[in-house]
Amino acid sequence: MSTEKQIQWYPGHMAKTKRLMKESLPLVDAVCEILDARIPISCRNPDLSELAANKPRIILLNKSDLADPAVTAQFVDSFKKQGITAVEINAKTKAGINRFFEAVDKVLAQKIEQNRKKGVNKSLKLMVAGIPNVGKSTFINAVADKKAKVEDRPGVTRENRWFAAKHNLMLMDTPGVLWPKFDDESTARKLAFTGAVKDTVLDTEEIAYYLIKELIQTYPQNLFERYKINPQDYAEPYDYLCAIGKKRGMLVSGGEIDTVRTSNMILDEFRGGVIGRISLDRI
Ligand code: G4P
Repeated sequence: MSTEKQIQWYPGHMAKTKRLMKESLPLVDAVCEILDARIPISCRNPDLSELAANKPRIILLNKSDLADPAVTAQFVDSFKKQGITAVEINAKTKAGINRFFEAVDKVLAQKIEQNRKKGVNKSLKLMVAGIPNVGKSTFINAVADKKAKVEDRPGVTRENRWFAAKHNLMLMDTPGVLWPKFDDESTARKLAFTGAVKDTVLDTEEIAYYLIKELIQTYPQNLFERYKINPQDYAEPYDYLCAIGKKRGMLVSGGEIDTVRTSNMILDEFRGGVIGRISLDRI
């Protein structure tokens, strides 16, 4: 199995998004950076850190229901030590959304006070940014004030849309952006495991192979509990993948194991949290 192929995915529209974000930043009071709680380091976009360096920032660790709770708590703490407010949420169930509103009040306290002194009740404007599939739309839906009317605002394009949200907020949605060159192969793979990189540009078997390799090292018990096969019995992740395929009866004609179908099944189960609450980044 090849280990040399570099995962690269930076379609032209993402370069355009980066430019649009740069142009839109002066229009917002703060940036709300959504991270996948399973990979808070690997999914941070260095472009965004650079572009929004001078803006107040809130980090949302989304999909916290899929991540290892102890590791997520360590990340929240670590961001706090860096002076960054981070909140763990589950955008699907809206868990943690109230803490997000509290974080906005804290991060934008000065702006809120200025508005109060001026006697104005202006909405606070936040840019919502994050890599593809991290849950931006789900989050916006969770906080949207469906009754409020979104007036025309500068910076509105088909790509950058404003949404009225509860807590007197206006949110600017941005399309997901990945960065031109992933730092290293491990970062790229973690983005692939979690579905941030489209499967169509990947070799599914290769991704499943590396996911199994990673899980054998970090969460062998979860693998055992899910597939009832001891991962430690296999020297090679590929042999373990085949054992799972065999056990699930995923065979092609001639009795060979359908490793592509097995790989897809394992990736789906990982992404759906069926293998357990798993964090792939460590502080
Ligand atoms: P994006 O705008 O950043 O691209 O992401 P989007 O909101 O479309 O979410 C991508 C997928 O992640 C969706 O699943 C969504 O339901 C799921 N998701 C978002 N937030 C959470 C969360 O906190 N926890 C969990 N477990 N999942 C979350 P999908 O399979 O594409 O759609 P659906 O079948 O759930 O509707």
